[in-house]
Amino acid sequence: MAFVNQIILTKTAKETEQIGEKIAKELIKEGLTRTATCVCLEGNLGAGKTTFAKGFAKGLGIKEIIISPTFAILKRFKIQDSRFKNFYHIDAYRLQGGKDAEALNLKEVLANPTNLVLIEWPNNLKVLLKGEFLTINFDFLTEKKRSLNFSKPMVK
Ligand SMILES: Nc1ncnc2c1ncn2[C@@H]1O[C@H](COP(=O)(O)OP(=O)(O)OP(=O)(O)O)[C@@H](O)[C@H]1O
Ligand SMILES: [Mg+2]
Repeated sequence: MAFVNQIILTKTAKETEQIGEKIAKELIKEGLTRTATCVCLEGNLGAGKTTFAKGFAKGLGIKEIIISPTFAILKRFKIQDSRFKNFYHIDAYRLQGGKDAEALNLKEVLANPTNLVLIEWPNNLKVLLKGEFLTINFDFLTEKKRSLNFSKPMVK
């Protein structure tokens, strides 16, 4: 997997989108997994998580416009792939703890190998184990510069 254990600097929103697109394309090529394939996006407001998600969706061939699902919390998109059937974009900013995760059926979503999942504000979801999935930590450097810190998922 590209970028794992690396810190990538981007100078424009477009560059962050392109990294999202590249990661999505790599993930759909990876071998079978027992659970959903999930990427956690950490970082402050405006750090670039949804911008990354836009490029990620593009990499999956999704034509719909990706906006922050803050008000919906979870949005599902169908995808045309031999293995993956759904892309879930989750924004847990407004959530606190396990109860909300239950309401979203998150456990089921994460258990299904045909799901690809992106989660903004994963720390608000208690069902997620820290480091369980590939995690990207976004940092705001200057108005246009961001750092994307890729960490390795824990071996399951
Ligand atoms: N290098 C860059 N990478 C990503 N976004 C950038 C960059 N430079 C400027 N931007 C701008 O910063 C903003 C990032 O907003 P975005 O919604 O992606 O952040 P977010 O991390 O999802 O925030 P939130 O936690 O509020 O959902 C956008 O307006 C984007 O155009
Ligand atoms: Mg966002």
